Amino acid sequence: MNRPFRDWRAQRVWIVGASSGIGAALAQALLAHGAHVALSARRADALAKLVDGTEIAEAATVLPLDLGDTAAFASALDRMVRDWGGIDLVVFCAGTWAPMAAGQLDAAAITHTLAVNLQAPMTACATLVPKLLAQGQGAIAFVSSVAGYRGLPRSAAYGTSKAGLSHFAETLHLELAPRGISVYLINPGFVATPMTATNAFRMPALITPDEAAEEILAGLARSAFEIHFPRRFTFWLKLLRLLPYRAYFPLARRLTGA
Ligand SMILES: NC(=O)c1ccc[n+]([C@@H]2O[C@H](COP(=O)([O-])OP(=O)(O)OC[C@H]3O[C@@H](n4cnc5c(N)ncnc54)[C@H](OP(=O)(O)O)[C@@H]3O)[C@@H](O)[C@H]2O)c1
Repeated sequence: MNRPFRDWRAQRVWIVGASSGIGAALAQALLAHGAHVALSARRADALAKLVDGTEIAEAATVLPLDLGDTAAFASALDRMVRDWGGIDLVVFCAGTWAPMAAGQLDAAAITHTLAVNLQAPMTACATLVPKLLAQGQGAIAFVSSVAGYRGLPRSAAYGTSKAGLSHFAETLHLELAPRGISVYLINPGFVATPMTATNAFRMPALITPDEAAEEILAGLARSAFEIHFPRRFTFWLKLLRLLPYRAYFPLARRLTGA
């Protein structure tokens, strides 16, 4: 389905959204496995802190940027390709989450969520995909969410953005995999990161960012299109996904207390 990543030595990986949480843990795991890793996000200090003074610093490149800035993305990509002589994997991990009930839709928060979670990776791909096609190989991984599987309460903006991102990943995979470009869809369940730290509800099967990073590496080695975890949680969500609406809506209300 996709090209499997089993040996990370000398692989050239760019992670956008690497300053904290899942992206930071993934960057550190990849560096520990011998990859060259470029780390991007808006906070330059947080990125530098992850690698400065460590054994892995030599293989790391800190490239601060806002993913929504298409010109900054294009010039960073040019720099990576020039310095490395090509690129093997780009991971879109940047994201934002704000709970939003249907009775309290907030126009500014909707715009921001869709811009960061959906529009920014899509417009970045308008620059990235032609480069990967020109080099004849490469891979893209989108960190989406199980929140994109079906409608969920308080997830009006976030869930919608992730459903759109997953759809985009499916579309790219259909068209690009036969042309030698791998496309991965990563769907985490709950991970304890700054993003979820203020959640007031119980988060079932919560895992650490390091565990999430290990799941992602295992998924990339398996070469499956979708990497979802932890399975003790995503198994049930996948079952819910199969239900007809007349069964799903009452069950989802009961399970989430909506
Ligand atoms: N935690 C979970 O339970 C969970 C579950 C499913 C999916 N996810 C997804 O996993 C991804 C990582 O989230 P996380 O949980 O690790 O949260 P996090 O620690 O808050 O990380 C979010 C990352 O996105 C970066 N970012 C945000 N806006 C950006 C922008 N405009 N340009 C560039 N970078 C930007 C942040 O860095 P700066 O602030 O420095 O820019 C940070 O590095 C997100 O896409 C999230 O939706 C998380």
